[in-house]
Amino acid sequence: MVSHKETVCVTGASGFIGSWLVMRLLERGYFVRGTVRDPGNLKKVQHLLDLPNAKTQLTLWKADLSDEGSYDEAINGCDGIFHVATPMDFESTDPEQNEVIKPTVNGVLGIMKACVKAKTVRRIVFTSSAGTVNVEEHMKDVYDESDWSDLNFIMSKKMTGWMYFLSKMLAEKAAWDYAKENGIDFISIIPTLVIGPFITTSMPPSLITALSPITRNEAHYSIIRQGQYVHLDDLCNAHIFLFEEAVAKGRYICSSHDATILSISGFLRKKYPEYNVPATFEGVDENLKSIMFSSKKLIDMGFSFKYSLEEMLVESIETCREKGFLPVSFPKPSKSEEKVPTSDDKSEHKIGAGLTDGMMPCTEPVVSREKTDACMQAQQMCA
Ligand SMILES: NC(=O)c1ccc[n+]([C@@H]2O[C@H](COP(=O)([O-])OP(=O)(O)OC[C@H]3O[C@@H](n4cnc5c(N)ncnc54)[C@H](OP(=O)(O)O)[C@@H]3O)[C@@H](O)[C@H]2O)c1
Repeated sequence: MVSHKETVCVTGASGFIGSWLVMRLLERGYFVRGTVRDPGNLKKVQHLLDLPNAKTQLTLWKADLSDEGSYDEAINGCDGIFHVATPMDFESTDPEQNEVIKPTVNGVLGIMKACVKAKTVRRIVFTSSAGTVNVEEHMKDVYDESDWSDLNFIMSKKMTGWMYFLSKMLAEKAAWDYAKENGIDFISIIPTLVIGPFITTSMPPSLITALSPITRNEAHYSIIRQGQYVHLDDLCNAHIFLFEEAVAKGRYICSSHDATILSISGFLRKKYPEYNVPATFEGVDENLKSIMFSSKKLIDMGFSFKYSLEEMLVESIETCREKGFLPVSFPKPSKSEEKVPTSDDKSEHKIGAGLTDGMMPCTEPVVSREKTDACMQAQQMCA
């Protein structure tokens, strides 16, 4: 194991990605300052305190993206920052000013100002989102780092989750401007749908989406209709790789596989027949092409992805089963639940058009009928 004596700060340390990143950083010998909004809430931080090396290498710090200056202390003296935290309130009644957009944009700028003050930070790695890349009216076959979502399209449609796309996009753009003006070494990493095993105590939103063919959560089908995926471990290793590689520069897409909902359901049906996963989906035929997010830039720099799509799905399912978030089997839908009842081993389910990012709308654990319809509409508008 490489031994690192550097001190790094991970914002949003308690979350799905943040906690796995903290684990990998501790393993590599980093001293980690994890920021959370409530360090006293053991439900949200115990999994961090239980990590190997946490006693000697991990400290937790209270910080909130809405509170100006609240990251100053945690960042002072750090060598690097992984800015992972993001507010996710899609139901927000005040998304622009107080709850989503302003805290996301001012939050990243506050963190960068704290880095300037500290004078010790050599690089910031920002976890961006596929929502900054492909939210537009007409989707392309392949996306790369030069692509940005269409701000006017987002503002004109104000689809479900618009405030999330906008917040990530405005935050990343503001961060690029601030980095250039202040000579900050800033890198952004753009994950697609992140799946795999996890150490958090709640069901990660992106797994609710990825495993929707099992749970028949139809509101999420549209997201994985033409989906892209990355294993949580690959993503966290890519964060560390980009922090450590001196030549890294700019934006990096981090996505290892693309697949249509048909290939995902085909694999699940074979591997887990007990889940009775639908074989066909309304509006999807076998000629549906997948949409690719190209990680060429990351791979050309020497990064290699370790996990297959099958491994990502199996590890997600096994972890969900172990933690009691997924039953061990799922019954065939009853005739009345079926949209189009078909032969013994086939069922057909409704589907809209797709978006990419696991942090997209409709990833909440409980989706009401009313909301489900709204989400479908929004996603269809984006396609
Ligand atoms: N999962 C995916 O598929 C995916 C895909 C693309 C991009 N991303 C990006 O990855 C990052 C992490 O996502 P995740 O899947 O790990 O989500 P997550 O589990 O919900 O983690 C997000 C963390 O952000 C923190 N947070 C929320 N609002 C905050 C605020 N106002 N101030 C400070 N911290 C706040 C929360 O921590 P506390 O409540 O403990 O403070 C939470 O643990 C996000 O930036 C997201 O945009 C995720």
